[in-house]
Amino acid sequence: MNTPTPPHTLEDARELDRQDDLARFRDEFVIDDPDLIYLDGNSLGRLPKRTIARMREVIEKEWGGRLIRGWNEGWFTAPQRIGAKIAQLIGAQADEVILCDSTAVNFFKLVMAALEARPGRGKVVTDDLNFPSDLYILQGAIKLAGQDRRLHVVHSTDGLTVANDALAEGVDDDTALVTLTHTAFKSGYRYDMPAITEIAHRAGALMLWDLCHSVGAMPLALNEAGVDLAVGCTYKYLNGGPGSAAFLYIRRGLQERLVNPIWGWFGQRAQFDFGLNYQPAPGLKRFLTGTTATLSLAAVEPAVDLLLEAGVDRLRAKSVRQTEYLISLWEAWLEPLGVTLNSPRDANCRGSHVSLGHPDGLRIDRALIEDVHVVPDFRFPDNIRLGIAPLYTSYAEVYEAMSRFRRVMVERLYEKYPTERPEVV
Ligand SMILES: Cc1ncc(COP(=O)(O)O)c(C=O)c1O
Repeated sequence: MNTPTPPHTLEDARELDRQDDLARFRDEFVIDDPDLIYLDGNSLGRLPKRTIARMREVIEKEWGGRLIRGWNEGWFTAPQRIGAKIAQLIGAQADEVILCDSTAVNFFKLVMAALEARPGRGKVVTDDLNFPSDLYILQGAIKLAGQDRRLHVVHSTDGLTVANDALAEGVDDDTALVTLTHTAFKSGYRYDMPAITEIAHRAGALMLWDLCHSVGAMPLALNEAGVDLAVGCTYKYLNGGPGSAAFLYIRRGLQERLVNPIWGWFGQRAQFDFGLNYQPAPGLKRFLTGTTATLSLAAVEPAVDLLLEAGVDRLRAKSVRQTEYLISLWEAWLEPLGVTLNSPRDANCRGSHVSLGHPDGLRIDRALIEDVHVVPDFRFPDNIRLGIAPLYTSYAEVYEAMSRFRRVMVERLYEKYPTERPEVV
């Protein structure tokens, strides 16, 4: 078959890297196999070198040397201190973000608090592009909250996007809460945060955004959009490490009115008085639960510092250029071979990953990893997700990855793999 002319050459890609004002940040990360092209920073970010030094310090000096005294020397205030830094990434004020627990647990806390804050309203609105864990938690929360609570799931008509109007139709004066994942985990569709928050508010409902696939890859303006509540993880574009602590955001004016459903001692007013009855701490601290995970929190801070140095506007500009570049290579090389674009074509409606589809997607994903050393990930039924982490992904890597992808297709390298799904993909 004829190989179509590539829109660029590897040398062009290298030239884009030379012109990239964020290129120096790549050296901040551990990259021990230069041949391995890692395009899964949207699932688990790379390890920053500074994190190794910080972890050594917190383990050897603080835990090893200072022992229990460490709590008064920075551990106790870490949720607020690091939360204040994350606030800068998402357009919030310093006292509106706190780092604790997992995304799932924080999501549960905020959903229960929101339902309690909107008594007499029965409906929670979400959509079927949302991350299933959020749906499970909503189902469980609604069962616990009882009364006539119910979940209204708006359906996507194309599997990639959900129109604002379709969401607006589902929201009414019986709606307590609207909650969505800002960048959809499969298609990478990026919702219009201000418009949808406005839809929720017009109906008198609260708005809760899951920022897992957005934070660290793009500027977010939660205050400007009037967002009430948000959660997000720190192990994707924030590079905080596997299972690192998550964050939650509550708009300042709402904090004193919300009740954490888990009444733990870290959320207690004057916690070391050890009073026998629960009294919520002022401000966001009431949304802490138990002892905070000091080591996990410590790993997040140097990684967030790196993002702040790079600047979210510059990161977004590079992410858009790189996803556009990737899509132009798909168009030239892979579309003619039957690979579909499972992400929005318009960069304004897209986050920082691109999903490519094929009926043999699972086997192609495996061949990419095992035969040609490109690491994307796979999401059922046919999505090969290629994540751009603008802090360390190079243009040469995007070029090389797509060129190797084409080789997998042309040489049918995937056909030797079984079609059955392994337990974890
Ligand atoms: C959008 C979204 N929300 C929630 C979660 C769950 O987060 P966790 O398992 O860290 O609680 C994930 C995990 O990938 C996610 O992608």
